[in-house]
Amino acid sequence: MNAKKTRVAILISGRGSNMRSLVDAARGKNYPAEIVLVLSNKAEAEGLAFAKAFSDREAFERVLQAKLLEHGVELVCLAGFMRVLTAWFVEQWREKMLNIHPALLPSYRGLHTHERALADGVKIHGATVHFVSPEMDAGPIVAQAAVPVLDSDTPDALAARVLEQEHRIYPLALSRVASGAARVEGFRVRIAGEPSAPAALIWPAN
Ligand code: GRF
Repeated sequence: MNAKKTRVAILISGRGSNMRSLVDAARGKNYPAEIVLVLSNKAEAEGLAFAKAFSDREAFERVLQAKLLEHGVELVCLAGFMRVLTAWFVEQWREKMLNIHPALLPSYRGLHTHERALADGVKIHGATVHFVSPEMDAGPIVAQAAVPVLDSDTPDALAARVLEQEHRIYPLALSRVASGAARVEGFRVRIAGEPSAPAALIWPAN
């Protein structure tokens, strides 16, 4: 018999490939989360279930919050959601909202991470799933994946290598948070069951 699954909403703004990886993972019988809602703040976003343009951030978030509560959402996953959230909204979902960022945080917060990594000449880059805190791209880290930076890389080639890993670590991280295995202790997220199940992946994956 299946245990009760955690009810998850995914917020997107565009392509939605991470959203698809979460939806696919959640189809698994033993996956601890179910995706009950996908919301977009952009009318043209793919995979759209709900969209409306709001000029006022607070009005947007009030409607968003009402939708989430209406659907009994317990966890929120930001997946390429390009709208900055207010401290009020972040506080409503403290330790209950995840984001995926295309860099190894705390390096390269913000935008254009692949261009910046190439410009700096780093040899290792990657992706991070973290809890959302009021400061952008700064919450406790749940999972990370590292990839090599190759001499031949363009920003797009590097982004593609990172994205492949994003699609692995986001379902992994959501599973650990939804099942209760991941617990926040200060700035650290401890995963019950480690070290047999580390929350870090190194490319090439096995
Ligand atoms: C991903 O690279 C994610 O890390 C970043 O925005 C991108 C979204 O891509 N936050 P997609 O919409 O999930 O395909």
